[in-house]
Amino acid sequence: MSASIDDRESDAARIARFYDGWSPTFVAAAGHTFQSGLVKAQADAHEDPDASTRLCAAQAGMRDGEQVIDAGCGVGGPACALLQAYPRATLVGVTLSPVQAALAQQLALKRRVADRAQFVVGDYHALPVDPASCDRVFFFECTGYSPDPARLYREAARVLRPGGTVYVKDVFAKPPPWTEAEAAKLRAFDALWACVRTGTLDEAASAAGAAGLEVRTRVYPHVGTARFLGAMMGDDGRPNAFGRGFLDTLAPIVFGELIGEKTP
Ligand SMILES: C[S@@+](CC[C@H](N)C(=O)[O-])C[C@H]1O[C@@H](n2cnc3c(N)ncnc32)[C@H](O)[C@@H]1O
Repeated sequence: MSASIDDRESDAARIARFYDGWSPTFVAAAGHTFQSGLVKAQADAHEDPDASTRLCAAQAGMRDGEQVIDAGCGVGGPACALLQAYPRATLVGVTLSPVQAALAQQLALKRRVADRAQFVVGDYHALPVDPASCDRVFFFECTGYSPDPARLYREAARVLRPGGTVYVKDVFAKPPPWTEAEAAKLRAFDALWACVRTGTLDEAASAAGAAGLEVRTRVYPHVGTARFLGAMMGDDGRPNAFGRGFLDTLAPIVFGELIGEKTP
């Protein structure tokens, strides 16, 4: 039996189609940061997407004036937060989705950072910059889309200057063993969000280490998901268009951080 057209669609084409189709709905419901968890300084801190990005940037060791990649940049919320927090930094954002790249450009104009931002339709396994030309490479909730994490981290290492860092803030599968039900939920989570495979933080650390990066990881102590879940509900208390598509996403995951330094 021959494969259907959908069976032959590449991962990249499938992900681009997913985000081209859903991004306007996500923006309307949740704004310009497409992350299910927001990092907080302490447990009772207010959930704020830009504050979460700033905490991550500080953890990554970012300084003003740096050249930065936002790999898997979505519609530009984190990228604009970085450029507003670091007024002399420049940034290249990369997404597979042309719709997202256009929305990100619009946001950068609105937030008056467009002169330091470039949003490119491309694949984060082949970043559109020279070797050793960047100080930070950020991945915010997007590494589960990679079919080849070892290649992903090799590419990030290629573009970093010595002393630069890869910073990953992501959803990871909770460490095994998993029950059959948990394994099924993880695969359902991947199917729902068009991920290729949500791996564990230890697997990510191995892949980044194999790329020659000096790696440290942790599970974040304080992450809020109320804003994300709230964005799924309409004013009438029922799931809105976003919620109707994505409310059923409870999976055995943790929110983790990976910092990989390119040693001099
Ligand atoms: C959950 S969204 C996160 C977006 C953004 N980082 C944020 O925090 O708002 C996942 C993003 O990963 C991007 N992505 C997935 N695979 C990619 C690839 N191979 N190359 C570039 N971007 C990719 C998607 O296009 C989408 O923008």
